[in-house]
Amino acid sequence: RGKRAFIAGVADDNGYGWAIAKALAAAGAEILVGTWVPALNIFETSLRRGKFDKSRVLPNGSLMEITKVYPLDAVYDTLEDVPEDVKSNKRYAGASNWTVKEVAETVENDFGSIDILVHSLANGPEVTKPLLETSRKGYLAAISASSYSFVSLLQNFLPIMNPGGSSVSLTYIASERIIPGYGGGMSSAKAALESDTRVLAFEAGRKNKIRVNTISAGPLGSRAAKAIGFIEKMIEYSYTNAPLQKELLADEVGNAAAFLVSPLASAVTGSVIYVDNGLNTMGLAL
Ligand code: NAI
Repeated sequence: RGKRAFIAGVADDNGYGWAIAKALAAAGAEILVGTWVPALNIFETSLRRGKFDKSRVLPNGSLMEITKVYPLDAVYDTLEDVPEDVKSNKRYAGASNWTVKEVAETVENDFGSIDILVHSLANGPEVTKPLLETSRKGYLAAISASSYSFVSLLQNFLPIMNPGGSSVSLTYIASERIIPGYGGGMSSAKAALESDTRVLAFEAGRKNKIRVNTISAGPLGSRAAKAIGFIEKMIEYSYTNAPLQKELLADEVGNAAAFLVSPLASAVTGSVIYVDNGLNTMGLAL
């Protein structure tokens, strides 16, 4: 049978998560997605009304099918962790079973197992603030939504991942080089995500034969990136300065992710793979 993938962090057709879903679907995988609870309604409505049909087209002309959309809020591990004001919030009260543990249980009940886990989500409420002006609360929120969310997802999905399975997340070079403007502790969160990729590759590899990698992607004008404020500048900077002077397509990251979670990459684990037109290799911009 084909492989089954759970992709956390898809809420429209613009981001890396959508492109990864498409690349995996094109390779024959069954697609399940986890969508942030506040974005769930609009995503499902848009899907149903055909708003994404153009972007669902796969290379063979067929349309990507999403077998099931799961509501997910990856900053909560169990129902006990959810504060009252969130529980009673209108957007959250309309959905159920959206903590990480509950989502993994629901997927297990629905399908038994998965082969591929994708983490394509991040959030930093103070991302527009320099680190020097970032509050403890904002910093910890960035780490919670953007780094621990991966630890939690892997913890909870590992027991239902088939041996030989694989996971991948998305990171950004601000973890290791100074990118002024990528604030609020988001640079710290990506550094944690990359370090955790190595430690989790060891632990999940030894225990469950599961591979763990992360893609350091170049700039893309996604919804999340637009919230940071200078994404157009970053795209232009990359276009001017990278070894490959071309637009970076989300599909190129999708294809790299499909390779990484496939048997073609069976000896690759614990790695940060750059998919950025080579920008990371430049020492002097010319
Ligand atoms: P996106 O907006 O398509 O994806 C981010 C997703 O995270 C959204 O669907 C949002 O609803 C979801 N999300 C936020 N908080 C959540 C939570 N608590 N629980 C569940 N879902 C939550 O944007 P993009 O840019 O494709 O982001 C995907 C990944 O790619 C992120 O990890 C991002 O940091 C990374 N990345 C993006 C780059 C860019 O230039 N766009 C560059 C390098 C990495």
